Formats: sequence, C-alpha cells, structure tokens
Amino acid sequence: MHKNFLAIKDFSAEELDYILKRGLYLKRRFESGEIYRPFKGRVLAMIFEKASTRTRVSFEAGFDQLGGTCIYLNSADMQLRNAESMQDTARVISRMVDIVMIRTAMHERLEEFASCSLVPVINGLTNESHPCQIMGDIMTYMEQRGPITGKTVAWIGAANNVLYSWLNAASILGFKVNISAPIGFKLNTSQLPKDRSCLEFFQDPMEAAAGVDIVTTDTWKSTGYDEDNEKRLGNFARWQVTPEVMSAAKKDAMFMHCLPAYRGQEVSAEVIDGPQSVVWDEAENRMHIQKAIMEYLLLGKLDE
Ligand code: CP
Ligand code: NVA
Repeated sequence: MHKNFLAIKDFSAEELDYILKRGLYLKRRFESGEIYRPFKGRVLAMIFEKASTRTRVSFEAGFDQLGGTCIYLNSADMQLRNAESMQDTARVISRMVDIVMIRTAMHERLEEFASCSLVPVINGLTNESHPCQIMGDIMTYMEQRGPITGKTVAWIGAANNVLYSWLNAASILGFKVNISAPIGFKLNTSQLPKDRSCLEFFQDPMEAAAGVDIVTTDTWKSTGYDEDNEKRLGNFARWQVTPEVMSAAKKDAMFMHCLPAYRGQEVSAEVIDGPQSVVWDEAENRMHIQKAIMEYLLLGKLDE
C-alpha cells in the first residue's frame, strides 16, 4: 500500500525528522551543483482548485530538478468543473502518473481523491491544513537555528489552516505554540491535536510573543473563508505583527509568514522586510522539503 502526505498527524516524529533532515541534505546537494535524477521517467500531476504561486512553482521546479515531468491541471479546465467526482478523477489520473499533488478547499475532497488513487497523494493546502508549508518552515528554523524541539512559536492573528498544521507538528515534534487570535474567531477544534499540552491561548499578542523563538502570522483573508473575510478585516487591527510585538520575543527570534502577505494588515512592512524576517527562505525551502517528501513517498527511506 502506498503512503500519502495528507496531514502531519499521519507521520511519526522519526519520519518527520528524517524528511526534515533529508530536505536539508537535498538542498546542500542541489546547491553544490550535483545532478541527482531519481525521478527520471516519472510524472507528477498537480491539481489546483485554488490560486497559487509558491506551491505550483516549488513542486514543478523541484520535480523537474529530480528528473521528472509535471502536468499542471487547473480544475476550472477539467471535468471536475462539470461535477465529475474526485474519486473518478483519481481512478483515471492515477493510472497514468506516479504521484499527485492537490490544492483544494474541503479537506474531504483530498481524502476522496486519495481513497481511489493508485499512487501517493500530497496535500498542497486545504481549508483545514497546509502541511508542506509547515515542513518548509520547520526546515528553515533547523537550517538557521538548530532543532525545534523545546522551542516556542507565537501565532498572532487569524486561526486558519496554517495554524492547524503548526499545532499538529508541535504535538509530534515537541515544541509549543502560543496563540493570540481575535475574539469571535474560534478555533476549529476538530483540527487540533489530541494532546493539547503544546498550545496555550493569550488574549494579548504581546503576551503571546513574550520570549518566543518564532513569531508568525498569516493573511486575515484566507481563501475558503470568504463569508467571514469582511468581518475579519474589521476585527483584526490589534493583531498586526509590529516591531513592538517582535521586541517582546527573543532577540534572535525569527519572523515567519507563509505568504502571500499584506503589509499594513497582519504584518508591518518594517517587520516583514526587516532583519528578523525569513519569509523568502521559507518560500525557497518549500521546494527542498517537497523534494524530500516526494522522495520518501516514491522511494522510501534512503541512506545516500
Ligand atoms: N504559501 C503558499 O502556499 O503560497 P501559494 O498560495 O502561492 O502557493
Ligand atoms: N491561509 C492562507 C494560506 C495561503 C498559502 C489560505 O488558505 O489562503
């Protein structure tokens, strides 16, 4: 039976640690100019039901660098648009390609596809999670600071898919997440890890950021939450990551953001464009960590 990468919680600490270290290793090999083509003759299909810049380019460039070929599919151009089911789409596509990445709204659609797929399926973002993003973010922390175990992340702002993936990673890898989200935007408890000892709630963003290693946030207007978006803009002003919020964190704390970002809303320009920001490294590391994820799904654990 093949393995999918649908959610962080489906993986053990050992597996996540292997993939993270492998991402760092593959990045070093790539930067040294080494040619490594384990995916020669293999095909990745990418299905997008939502817009993307980073996810598309990082998967496509990464698979190509490892010797494979990619097919970009926008669901608006597919029979999905005419209500062909995810299951039938999976039955067809997975007979022709080796691995599939899907970005969609409802997580159930991803699971429907995976339930009928003959090949590994990767979550490229759903309304409930964004596991590749968090793997890239943790890789970025490890690359510049070392192990994340025992560290603390402050999430300031909208509770969303990216936060849920942070929380699930925290419960497996042993770090903490302080959450300061505006009142009235409750967390979707079905997405929280079973063991909630890794998370703590704070009303005041300054308290959530006190002494932490990473400060992170995300857009106030996530895709897939459209009915709430106007209300969100009105309520969020206090939850902007400003230099003052950063000054509450550790001196060498990193600022992270999955991007796209909106300067003057969830983060001030001084912070995202400032010296503590690692947002471009996070974006770049999406490509390297996804190579490691795809390699693990297609080839298993490797020594070399
Ligand atoms: N962070 C991220 O997934 O970006 P895109 O929406 O551009 O893919
Ligand atoms: N929370 C954002 C992340 C975009 C990468 C969204 O779901 O739109």
